[in-house]
Amino acid sequence: MIIIESVAQMQQFARERRGQIALVPTMGYLHEGHASLMVEARKRAETVVLSIFVNPTQFGVNEDLDSYPRDLERDQRVALEAGVDVIFVPKAADMYPQGYQSWVNVEELTRHLCGASRPGHFRGVTTVVAKLFNIVAPKVALFGNKDFQQLAVIRRMVRDLNMDLEIVGMPIVREADGLAMSSRNARLDEGERQSALCLSRSLAAARAAFAGGETSVQALAGVALAVIEAEDAAQVDYLEFRDQDSLEALEEADERTLLALAVRVGSVRLIDNCLLGER
Ligand code: PAF
Repeated sequence: MIIIESVAQMQQFARERRGQIALVPTMGYLHEGHASLMVEARKRAETVVLSIFVNPTQFGVNEDLDSYPRDLERDQRVALEAGVDVIFVPKAADMYPQGYQSWVNVEELTRHLCGASRPGHFRGVTTVVAKLFNIVAPKVALFGNKDFQQLAVIRRMVRDLNMDLEIVGMPIVREADGLAMSSRNARLDEGERQSALCLSRSLAAARAAFAGGETSVQALAGVALAVIEAEDAAQVDYLEFRDQDSLEALEEADERTLLALAVRVGSVRLIDNCLLGER
């Protein structure tokens, strides 16, 4: 496994391996969710590149860019174990040099959900992901379903801009007690870690109500919200039932309906989601 820091060197490597690369873009502080992406990447290409870059342009001014957890040494061990060939760790000054002024924006899909509560977030995500695709030139890139909207936005960008690669979405990986794995979980104290279980419990409660025959979004939202509101440390940012393709709001739910949540637990904002028909 090699570590590449410079954009020029990464591009040189990518030229030599054109058509053979699977890319796993991350912001580091790797967990089993990331590992599942790397293991799948290993099956899909001769060369696996993992990028680790805490992308400043996708964080708002009052967000957690500075406190976002980082541990490159540990990440290297996880990557090596998962069979990664190259870790690409660019510097912010190399990705966004003086005078930088070009942005990629997906217009409609980013108006909802996280796009509404984090203005500018998806412009930063799509820009950095487009840059990574240009630098690494992968034939396939893998992302987790936990960031459901991010995945939908990236798929749209790839389609709209005729980017020549396959996008693969992988299932959410959960702790034994149901908490969706996230690098931000490391910032929860013990009490908050317990409170954070309200996200997966809220999803389970809505799924159970749906399985019991309830299809009114208003009624299902009441069931899901009650679980979060019972938790003192938790504050709902959004809880929405959406069409999983257009992300438009719905009044009646079916098996394919997406339930997406963003909840603040203490100072940490967590997201989770499920499809109502999911077992
Ligand atoms: O999901 C993430 O970790 C980031 O948003 C991504 C896709 C690596 C872009 O910075």
